[in-house]
Parts: sequence; C-alpha cells; structure tokens
Amino acid sequence: MERETDDAGCDELGVSGCLVPVFLQSCFVARLVRLLTSLLEVDSNSSAMEKEALCICITGAAGQIAYSLLYSICKGDVFGTQQPLIVHLLDIVPMMPVLEGVVMELQDCAFPLLQNIIATSEPSVAFANIDVAILVGAMPRKQGMERKDLLKANAKIFVAQGKALNDYAKKTVKVLVVGNPANTNCMMAKMNAPSIPPENFTCLTRLDMNRARAQIAMRVGTQVEDVKNIIIWGNHSSTQYPDVNHGTVNMPQGCISIREAVSDDSFLNGEFITTVQKRGAAIIAARKLSSAMSAAKAICDHMRNWWFGTAEGEFVSMGVVSDGSYGIPKDIVYSFPVRISPDHKYEIVKGLAISDFSREKMDATAEELLQEKESCQSFLE
Ligand SMILES: NC(=O)c1ccc[n+]([C@@H]2O[C@H](COP(=O)([O-])OP(=O)(O)OC[C@H]3O[C@@H](n4cnc5c(N)ncnc54)[C@H](O)[C@@H]3O)[C@@H](O)[C@H]2O)c1
Repeated sequence: MERETDDAGCDELGVSGCLVPVFLQSCFVARLVRLLTSLLEVDSNSSAMEKEALCICITGAAGQIAYSLLYSICKGDVFGTQQPLIVHLLDIVPMMPVLEGVVMELQDCAFPLLQNIIATSEPSVAFANIDVAILVGAMPRKQGMERKDLLKANAKIFVAQGKALNDYAKKTVKVLVVGNPANTNCMMAKMNAPSIPPENFTCLTRLDMNRARAQIAMRVGTQVEDVKNIIIWGNHSSTQYPDVNHGTVNMPQGCISIREAVSDDSFLNGEFITTVQKRGAAIIAARKLSSAMSAAKAICDHMRNWWFGTAEGEFVSMGVVSDGSYGIPKDIVYSFPVRISPDHKYEIVKGLAISDFSREKMDATAEELLQEKESCQSFLE
C-alpha cells in the first residue's frame, strides 16, 4: 500500500493498522501544524486589530488627486493590509461641503482598516499628532498668473503649514509634498519646522520616474517592472533631468543597460527627456485637468518605499534636502536617487559616474531651484 502524505491518507492508514506509529506521528504533526497555523492566524489578525493606528494627514483632501489617493491608502496599499489607519483631511473653508461628500464616500467604502476620519479646515487639528503628512493642497496656477505670483501664494501656504507641522505633528512625522512647485514648497515647509529633522521632508518626483520607466518599457517592448534605476535629478518642473545612464532593462537576452537595450542615443538624449519633462503639460492639454490617477499612484509608490524600503539592488528618486552630493548646493530640495532601509531611513546613492551631458542638465535644474528659493525668500522678507 502506498503511503499517503495528506490528511485523508492518514485516516486510511489508520484503518490498515500496520503503520500505526507512523500514522500517529504524521497525523499528530499535521494536526499540530494546523492548530499552530490557526493560532498564528488568530494572533496576527488580532494583533492587526490591536496595532496602534497610524495617523495620516492629507491636505487638498477635496481635490482630484486626494480622491484617488484616499482609496489606495485606506485599502492598505501603502502601509500594509494589517495596519489600522486614522485619516485627517484638510482643505480650505469653501471646500468643506465637497469634503463632506468625500467623508461620506469613505464611510460607504467600509474599509476594515479605517478607524476614524477627521475632516477640517484647521491645520492645528489636521496636523495634531500625525505620523505622516501628504501635502497635496496648493494654490493652482490661474489664467494670467505669473510664475512668481504662484511661488508667492504657495510660499505663504507652506510657511504656515511648516509652522503648524512644527507645533502640532509628532517629531517623527514623515512629510511628502506634492502640491506645486513641490520642491520649493517642501523647502519652505522644512525651513519653518525646525523641531522636525530635515530628512523627514521629501517631495514627489516619483511620477516623473514612473513616466520615464513607462516610456523606456514601451520603447523596448518590455514590462515597466523590468526597467530599473532611472534617475530623476532636480526640480519637478520642465528642467528636471531624467537620466537613464545607470538604468537597466531585463530583456530576453538578460539584464542589460538601457542604452544598450534602446540602442538610440539621439532618442535617449533628446525626445525621451523632453517627453518626460513635458508629460504633465501633455496630460493637461488632453484632459483639461492635471494628472491625478498617476499622481496618486506615484504618491503611494513613494510612501510605500519610504515605509518598507527599496528592493535589493534598486534605487528610486525622491526630492530630498541636498547634502551637497554631486556638487548640488546644500539645503535646496533636489531630486536624487535614494536607497531606503526597512526602518524608514533613506540615503542618497553616492559615487555614480556623471557625464558632461548629465552635469550640465543637473546644474541647470539646480539653478532653477536656487532662483525659486531666492524669490521665496524675497517675498517673505
Ligand atoms: N509633484 C507632482 O508630481 C505632482 C503631480 C500632479 C499634481 N501635482 C500638484 O498637486 C496639487 C494638487 O493637484 P490636484 O489635481 O489634486 O488639484 P485640485 O485643484 O483638484 O485640488 C487641490 C485641493 O487643494 C485645496 N487647497 C488649496 N489650498 C489649500 C490649503 N492652503 N490647504 C489645504 N488645501 C488647500 C483646494 O481647495 C483643492 O481642494 C497641484 O499643485 C498640482 O500641481 C503635483
């Protein structure tokens, strides 16, 4: 008789009697394993419920990015499916009726992880004791508005929000600035929150990185997941520099450099860069609204990596406070390649070779950020 290894087999063996000791052992082990597994499951479920909720603040919560973002965050795509959440939603007073509708929808989603929703127009309430701040709300550029007027209006918002973070958030709060001009807004918030470590302030350039990966994947006919380590340097603006020089693609013949896979330097040094730089404008032209679904997805990618770390051998791009790496002026918020450990700590990837072509583009985008910084400082004097 053939010995069965599954449970049903155990019972059959018991009838035969000749292998009783083995049967007893295997049955006992199988039942023990089942019992332990079910105990562990109960334990992990109950520990998820007992886990302290993370408090996440999203500003611009009545806007279009937040509408996609809230769904992903609340269903566990970012902080995990075992992590209870409380969301604090901030928007301006005129948007409170709209925000009420967002709250109703969140309630109706019946997300198991969502423990509480606080909707407010008061930064002191929105930022109170939060673990994470995703600052999406910003003054949009209106028709006829000069860039300096946009900088000025947003500088005021992010100075105030920096101060409120300083006064009300946990000192460990992780801040992601999305509202444009994202890098300079992030710098203004950081400068006004001296009690929070500067490395806790980042801005979103992950959308640009995702766009760049998608362009390369489409060009070489592979999946986006196969394209790794493209860097976005600098400002989240049309001066940003998407750099493929350290990137790789998994192709049927193996993992090769992007330059080798694409085999067209004039495309990579020209059309590819301008397509990524101008992608936001192309979406506005087509949709009559700025990118929202892809921005929300990029926010999730950025925060998930910041929370859980980057994969072995991979880096991602984030706007972070410059430490002077690669000759970039200190203290501006500049997009660099970073590696992140599972304890939420990131480090700028050092020692990458920089060509003359890259140097010029990295400096041009740094120069734009220095000018933005100077303009903001002059408004606030
Ligand atoms: N960094 C990036 O990659 C990236 C990508 C896409 C969009 N953005 C920027 O994100 C921002 C939001 O985009 P959206 O499409 O959701 O815009 P939206 O106009 O739909 O929503 C913005 C919301 O912010 C609110 N708001 C304005 N000032 C506020 C303040 N002081 N406090 C709190 N809320 C405030 C508005 O009332 C509005 O509800 C814009 O600045 C946009 O340019 C950045």
